[in-house]
Amino acid sequence: MRYRASALGSDGVRVTMESALTARDRVGVQDFVLLENFTSEAAFIENLRRRFRENLIYTYIGPVLVSVNPYRDLQIYSRQHMERYRGVSFYEVPPHLFAVADTVYRALRTERRDQAVMISGESGAGKTEATKRLLQFYAETCPAPERGGAVRDRLLQSNPVLEAFGNAKTLRNDNSSRFGKYMDVQFDFKGAPVGGHILSYLLEKSRVVHQNHGERNFHIFYQLLEGGEEELLRRLGLERNPQSYLYLVKGQCAKVSSINDKSDWKVVRKALTVIDFTEDEVEDLLSIVASVLHLGNIHFAADEESNAQVTTENQLKYLTRLLSVEGSTLREALTHRKIIAKGEELLSPLNLEQAAYARDALAKAVYSRTFTWLVEKINRSLASKDAESPSWRSTTVLGLLDIYGFEVFQHNSFEQFCINYCNEKLQQLFIELTLKSEQEEYEAEGIAWEPVQYFNNKIICDLVEEKFKGIISILDEECLRPGEATDLTFLEKLEDTVKHHPHLLTHKLADQRTRKSLGRGEFRLLHYAGEVTYSVTGFLDKNNDLLFRNLKETMCSSESPIMSQCFDRSELSDKKRPETVATQFKMSLLQLVEILKSKEPAYVRCIKPNDAKQPGRFDEVLIRHQVKYLGLMENLRVRRAGFAYRRKYEVFLQRYKSLCPETWPTWAGRPQDGVAVLVRHLGYKPEEYKMGRTKIFIRFPKTLFATEDALEVRRQSLATKIQAAWRGFHWRQKFLRVKRSAICIQSWWRGTLGRRKAAKRKWAAQTIRRLIRGFILRHAPRCPENAFFLDHVRTSFLLNLRRQLPRNVLDTSWPTPPPALREASELLRELCVKNMVWKYCRSISPEWKQQLQQKAVASEIFKGKKDNYPQSVPRLFISTRLGTDEISPKVLQALGSEPIQYAVPVVKYDRKGYKPRSRQLLLTPNAVVIVEDAKVKQRIDYANLTGISVSSLSDSLFVLHVQREDNKQKGDVVLQSDHVIETLTKVALSADRVNNININQGSITFAGGPGRDGVIDFTPGSELLITKAKNGHLAVVAPRLNSR
Ligand SMILES: Nc1ncnc2c1ncn2[C@@H]1O[C@H](COP(=O)(O)OP(=O)(O)OP(=O)(O)O)[C@@H](O)[C@H]1O
Ligand SMILES: [Mg+2]
Repeated sequence: MRYRASALGSDGVRVTMESALTARDRVGVQDFVLLENFTSEAAFIENLRRRFRENLIYTYIGPVLVSVNPYRDLQIYSRQHMERYRGVSFYEVPPHLFAVADTVYRALRTERRDQAVMISGESGAGKTEATKRLLQFYAETCPAPERGGAVRDRLLQSNPVLEAFGNAKTLRNDNSSRFGKYMDVQFDFKGAPVGGHILSYLLEKSRVVHQNHGERNFHIFYQLLEGGEEELLRRLGLERNPQSYLYLVKGQCAKVSSINDKSDWKVVRKALTVIDFTEDEVEDLLSIVASVLHLGNIHFAADEESNAQVTTENQLKYLTRLLSVEGSTLREALTHRKIIAKGEELLSPLNLEQAAYARDALAKAVYSRTFTWLVEKINRSLASKDAESPSWRSTTVLGLLDIYGFEVFQHNSFEQFCINYCNEKLQQLFIELTLKSEQEEYEAEGIAWEPVQYFNNKIICDLVEEKFKGIISILDEECLRPGEATDLTFLEKLEDTVKHHPHLLTHKLADQRTRKSLGRGEFRLLHYAGEVTYSVTGFLDKNNDLLFRNLKETMCSSESPIMSQCFDRSELSDKKRPETVATQFKMSLLQLVEILKSKEPAYVRCIKPNDAKQPGRFDEVLIRHQVKYLGLMENLRVRRAGFAYRRKYEVFLQRYKSLCPETWPTWAGRPQDGVAVLVRHLGYKPEEYKMGRTKIFIRFPKTLFATEDALEVRRQSLATKIQAAWRGFHWRQKFLRVKRSAICIQSWWRGTLGRRKAAKRKWAAQTIRRLIRGFILRHAPRCPENAFFLDHVRTSFLLNLRRQLPRNVLDTSWPTPPPALREASELLRELCVKNMVWKYCRSISPEWKQQLQQKAVASEIFKGKKDNYPQSVPRLFISTRLGTDEISPKVLQALGSEPIQYAVPVVKYDRKGYKPRSRQLLLTPNAVVIVEDAKVKQRIDYANLTGISVSSLSDSLFVLHVQREDNKQKGDVVLQSDHVIETLTKVALSADRVNNININQGSITFAGGPGRDGVIDFTPGSELLITKAKNGHLAVVAPRLNSR
C-alpha cells in the first residue's frame, strides 16, 4: 500500500509527504539512521538529493532535523500543516520543522524543562526563515495568555524590525543576518507565551561604512529612502535617491529586484507600533538612521597645515539637528583628537585620513549602539508583564538560536574570524551534547556504551580562545601593549606563540607549497568546517573599536533621547580600558554556551543547496562541504554507533503488533513483554536487537526494513478486512437508515390515506343521510332538509340529460324530468329539437330539400286522407319518370320552347266507354299535356285546371277537372298513374293547385263532355278492379291495405 498524502500548493508545486518508510526507494529514507551504508557520504548525499527532488526538504538524523533550503515557497507552513503536527508522535509523521517545534513544546509543557532550538548552517541556508516559522507555529498554535495577548504579536513583529536594522544583502544571502540572535520565549504553566527576551551578538558594524561589491548596507537605510513619506524625508534632510549617500553606494547595488524596500518599510513601520514605539520614538530612531547617512557625506579638505577641515556645512547642520549636539563641538570633534597627557587635555588636529577614520568610527558607533538600544527597547516591550507575580516562577523558557552561519569569502577579516569562531563553539557544543545524550540514553536503558570515534574541535576552539596562548589573547595583548603595535606585529606574535599548531598556518609557518597560497599579512585557520584564510588588516582597529574621546564626549552631550542612552557619561569617567571586541564576543559566547547547556537542546541543521539562490538546484560539491562541516556524518555515526533504530516499547508495539497473532489486536500485558513476543515471532536474531529498559534497540536498518515490509503486506490484508467490515457496517447502517425512512414515509402515507378515506366516508354518510332526508321531504316546499336532495335531483337530471339527448329529429325520446324541472325540461326539449332541425337543415343538399318540400306538400294533401299514401312515403319522388328519348320528338317539337318538368306514363280512361288507353302525362311550366305516342292529345293550361279529384282508397285513379266553359277542352280527364301520389303532388305544385285537390269518399263526379257527367264509384275490395258498371259508372274496387 503506497500511503502518500499529497497537497497541491497554490504555485503548483507538488508537495509530497511520504509516510513512514514505505516510499523509501523513490524519496529516500526520512531518517538518515536508516541508511544501510551509514558511513558513506555519497549515500548520505544521494538520500538528500532524492528527497530534495521530491520537495522533501526535511530529513532526520535521529532527533536532529536536517533542512535543505528550497528557495521557493512550498506551501508547507500553513495552519493545516501546523494542525497536522500537533500532538502526534515525532516519528509517525513525515519530518518537518513543525514536528520539532511540537516535540519541543510538549517536552516544555510536560517535563517543565527549558528548551533550546539551535538552528545552524551557513549563510543563506535558512536559519532565520526557520526561526520565523517556529515563532509563527508557537504564536498560532499555543493557547493565548489570560492577560497580555499582544505578546504573541510583539514576538512576531520584533522580527521585521530587527531584520531591517540587523540584516543586509550579502553575496550569499539577500537577507543575511549580520548579528547573532538568541531569543527566549517564556511560557506560563498553561503553555501560553507570556514574554520574551532577545540577546544579540556582535553586529557587523563595519558594513555601515563599507560594503563589498554586490552587497548592501543594512536594509533600514534603503527602506527609509524608498518608503519614507516626503514630509519625513524633508524633516530628516534626506533625498530619496540612495545614490546620493556615500555609505550606500560602495556595493553598487542599492536596488535589487528580490527586495521590495517600499513594502518592507510599511511592514517595519507597522511592526514598530506593535512593539510599543511612540511616534516620537520612531522619529528619534529614524533621525539617527538619517544622521548616519549624513555622516557618510561629510567631506574634509586639508588646510595649509594639512589639517582636515569640514567642507560640507549643510551636512553638519543636519547632523547637529538630528543628533541634537552642538554644531561647533561636533565640527571640532570630527577634525581633532583630544589627548590627555599628564593630566592635561590637548587638542591635536587630524589629517584627512584620520578625520575620515574618526567620521566612520562615529558612524559605526552610533549605528551599532542604536542597534543595541533597539534590542533593549524590544526586550522591554517583550518583557512579561507578570514578571513580578508568583506565577512568574513557574514559567518555562524556549530558546531559539539564530546565529550567523559559517562564512568564507574571498577576503575574510576580523568579522569572519568572530563569526567562524562562534560556529566552532556551537559545533563543539553540538558534538558534546549529542554524544552526551546518546551516552545517557544507553546508560539509562542499561545498554553497554560502545565508544565512538569522532572529531573533537575543542582543539580549534582552544587555539582561538585559550588564555595567554589563544589568538584572541594575543590580539588583545597587541592592542593593549604600548608602542607601535600593528596588524603585522600581531601576526608575528601569533606565529611566535602558537608556532606548530596543526590548525594554524601563516606564510612563515607553512611549507613551501602551501606558502604560495598565503599572503604575508594572512593567517589560515584549519577550521573544523574547512580552511579559512584571514587577512590581519584591520584586526587591531576592529578589536580596539576606538572612538576618539572628544567624539564620545560630543555624543554624551547629545540631547537626543536615544543617543543619551547609547552614550553614557559614566563611560567618560571610567578609567578602565573597555574590553576588546573579541574578548567581549568570547565572553558573550561562553555565556551563550552556558545558557544553551542549561536547556534541553533540539537541533535544526540548515543546508544551502546552491550559491545561486535558485530553486531546484542541488550543487553536490557545495552540499558535501556543508554536510562535512556541519558534522552530519559524525552525528550520524554517533547515532548509529550501536543501533540504527530505537523506539519506546509502546510505540514499537503499537506499530507492529498486527504482525503477531499474540499481540494482535491488543496485548494485555506489559508493552516490553509484548515486544519480546513480537520480535520472537518475527524471528529477530539475538545480535540484531537489544531490549533496553523502556526501548527496543535495533542494530541494522535491514532488520527494520524487513519488519516494515512485512507490515506493508499485513496492512494490505488488514486494510481489505477492515474495508470489508467497514463497508458491511456502512451499508448496513445505510440500509437501516433507508428502512427507517421508508417505514416513516409509509406510516405517514398510510395515515394520510386513512384520513382521506375516513373523510370521504364521513362525507358519503352525510350525503346519503341528506339525500334520504331530502327524499322523504321531496314533496315539501324547499327547506334546508330537502334543498340538497332537490338540487341533487336537478343537477343529476341536467347532467344525465346531457348524455341522453335525442340523437336525431325523429328520435322523440326525452328523459322524464323531476317535477320542479318540467317547464325547464320542456323548454330545453324544444330548444334541442330546434337545434337538431336547424343543424339538419343546414346539412341537407338542395335536391334533397326539394324532395322534402314535395314530400311535405304530399303529406299535407294526402296524409290520413288517402289509403295508399303511407306506401308512397318511403319511396322517393323522382324528377321525371320518362327520359326525353322516351318522348316523341314531335311532341317535343310541338311543345316548342316549353321545357318538360315532369313526365310519367299514365292510363287514360275514355269518358264514354272507360276504355283504358296508354298515355304520357307531361308537365310544363304552363300546362298538363296528355300525349298519345307522337301526338299531343290534350293540353290543359293550368289556368283551366280547376281541380283534381282522387278517391280516399288505395286506387291510383284521379280526375283532372277542366274549366267547363272552355269549349276547346274535351272535358275532365280520368287518368291512372302507378305513382299517383307523386304525380298529383307534382301537378298540384306546378299548377299551384295544392288546395284544389279533393279527396272523395265513395265516388267522384266529373264532366264527361259537353252536358254529360260521368261518375266513378269507389269501393274497397280485395283487389284492384276497374270496370264499367251496369249503371254506366266506372266502378273501381280498391284493395284494402293493412295500414287502414
Ligand atoms: N524553508 C524555506 N522555504 C522557502 N524559502 C526559504 C526557506 N528557508 C530559506 N529560504 C529562502 O532562503 C533565503 C535565505 O534564508 P535565511 O535568511 O533564513 O538564511 P540564513 O541561514 O538566516 O542566512 P544568514 O546566516 O545569512 O542570516 C530566505 O530569504 C528565503 O528566501
Ligand atoms: Mg539569518
